[in-house]
Amino acid sequence: MPFPQTRLRRLRSHATIRRLVQETHVQLADCMLPLFIRHGTRSFDVSTMPGHKQLCLADLPQEIEHLIQIGIHSVLLFGIPETKDALGLDSYAPDGSIQRAIKIIKKICPNMYVITDVCFCEYTHHGHCGFVDETTEAKAVDNDRTLELLKKQAVSHAQAGADMVAPSGHIDGMVHAIRSALDAHHYQHIPILSYSVKYASAFYGPFRAATEGAPQFGNRKTYQMNPANSGEAIREAELDILEGADIIMVKPAGVYLDVIYRLKQNFPQIPVAAYQVSGEFSMIKAAAEKGWLDEKKVALESLLAIKRAGADFIITYFAREVAHWLQDNTD
Ligand code: PBG
Repeated sequence: MPFPQTRLRRLRSHATIRRLVQETHVQLADCMLPLFIRHGTRSFDVSTMPGHKQLCLADLPQEIEHLIQIGIHSVLLFGIPETKDALGLDSYAPDGSIQRAIKIIKKICPNMYVITDVCFCEYTHHGHCGFVDETTEAKAVDNDRTLELLKKQAVSHAQAGADMVAPSGHIDGMVHAIRSALDAHHYQHIPILSYSVKYASAFYGPFRAATEGAPQFGNRKTYQMNPANSGEAIREAELDILEGADIIMVKPAGVYLDVIYRLKQNFPQIPVAAYQVSGEFSMIKAAAEKGWLDEKKVALESLLAIKRAGADFIITYFAREVAHWLQDNTD
């Protein structure tokens, strides 16, 4: 029945009925917080990402206790090592920055769910996400050699006590390689959250300042996806599922809602995560600082949109704020 019998405004007339018929919700339990872990004895503010720090190990216990207190129970760790080299040695050293961080977190809070980013851009001196033969003119990331290094890194994170690993380098076969390495080392129970659909995006800008991992030459277009493509996203996700990914992810999130939607429609049986990346976060922060946008409203709306598109959960730099905002959620 069309208008005038049908009037959709009827169910919008009162806050209570609006809440009752609300289709999508954002909860703190949907949010995972990324943390940057830094070598050395001092923490530093990340100038491009207000409220975020490069945390040194000494400051980590206090931060973890605070997060548990405000209701954040999962963190995604990125490491910033003291030395970078051709092989990313720190990333699989038993006393590497991430390995030590995991042990510290698990000691003070065994219940904090720790996911580790598994990639090489923060650990190689050239800033690419894998092994590069720098004697060749192409200086391309060597896919299959990188797989061998990824195995070492993932196993090393599991040995240190990580609950889940999240390979983000967009290397062909990475999920299969990591799954077999984990299984061979008796880590069958450790899930893989794969950055299955990761675009070569300019929205990672603020993150590269945070992790000091910008590529020193070239760009990431030979391994990350072309922002123009979404059919290819289905193929990437399909392959990752076949290789054993437990969760597939789309990154960035806000400007790729169509991709999140397509993935969820195509693979309704697999959890889909979305990464609201540094650029998405910092744009809102900057506009709010200028007084041009209402930070709380815009951030919550952006998270809601990501969930509405089909994400089961969101990796977001707003997780701390969400903890604060959702205590007081009227209107
Ligand atoms: C590393 C990695 C990146 C991000 C997550 N893991 C950077 C990149 O690929 O350049 C970006 C996260 C963000 O922007 O918040 N492979």
